Amino acid sequence: EKSGYDHYMLKEIHEQPRALRQTISGRIDADAGTVDIEVDLPAEYIDSIEEIQIVACGTSNYAGRYAAELLESVVDVRTTVEVASEYEFDGGRDPWRTLVVAVTQSGETADTLSAIRRAKRAGARTLAVTNTLGSTIVRETDDSVFIRAGPEIGVAATKTFASQVATLTLLAVHVGRARGSLSYGWARELLESVRKLPNAVQGVLDREDRVREVAREYADSDAFFFVGRKLGHPVALEGALKLKEISYDHAEGFAAGELKHGPLALVTEDTPVLALLTDGSRPTETLNNVKEVQARGAPVIGAATADGDGEAAADSTYLDVELPVPVTGALEPLVANVYWQLFAYHVADEKGRPIDRPRNLAKSVTVE
Ligand code: M6R
Repeated sequence: EKSGYDHYMLKEIHEQPRALRQTISGRIDADAGTVDIEVDLPAEYIDSIEEIQIVACGTSNYAGRYAAELLESVVDVRTTVEVASEYEFDGGRDPWRTLVVAVTQSGETADTLSAIRRAKRAGARTLAVTNTLGSTIVRETDDSVFIRAGPEIGVAATKTFASQVATLTLLAVHVGRARGSLSYGWARELLESVRKLPNAVQGVLDREDRVREVAREYADSDAFFFVGRKLGHPVALEGALKLKEISYDHAEGFAAGELKHGPLALVTEDTPVLALLTDGSRPTETLNNVKEVQARGAPVIGAATADGDGEAAADSTYLDVELPVPVTGALEPLVANVYWQLFAYHVADEKGRPIDRPRNLAKSVTVE
């Protein structure tokens, strides 16, 4: 079951290439620039959508934020993302023209189910993006798309985040093509990149030894900050969530530009800053923020793309973890996220934490 790994979490991190292959299997026609995600959204309905509202919690919420950036840029549909427990259907919206998407690994998260019930009461169409066949969310939504990541046992969500973002990227291409807002060329490029994801993630996994070394070196730090822009922002939030859940260390994620509006006061030589510097995350601008924290003595651990805009940026940081297999900028932050998963794991392992069952947390949160 753990196939030789010490924890399910590490096994699941390493399963990502396989999970991603399952996620995309049979769903992509890159030559045609089309996607088949087995969802029954009629073309006229897709055309009529004025707003997409994503509701989700925790890691699934960050996958939703990633997708929202993509949907707004490649599909040109206004997309909002809300923490499910905060969601209300806004009476100013036309429910017929609003698609409410619940992203949930388990399909049983009470907050997400209750958000979907609110959307349904208002008359909106609902779609579930989930890993779990036969789950409550599947029964309660109009349509479902499965992320097909396989069972995830570790409380910390890892492979399901990657498969959620990949599935939502396919949904974005599907909706964009159906509305005519996404060009054939861009659709092809995105789909080619989705196809390369498993190998790109494997390339990161092959560098685990280096990440483990750095994680051990910094395991005793006072706090950790994760920063990124655009698609790197949800990845920064996700990196911090993963680390705090399993290591019990204080970790926070920010939009890189926000550092100077407050958090910088906490930055010292004992607070490593993990920076997303890949394409798709405005690496050149983020480098300015990297310099601000370096000037205060903070060690910076950067992830950038080999030969990408951020490479020079990464060269000036402590750990230059390149993405060995490039994908399009829209998916590079997702690949880089695997570095932060490994980092969180090895910090927690160094501290001897019960990684698969962190205190106070449950795999599936069935109370509101
Ligand atoms: O099953 P769901 O995707 O709805 O779960 C949502 C969150 O409870 C979940 O992502 C949680 O934040 C994880 N423990 C994160 O690693």
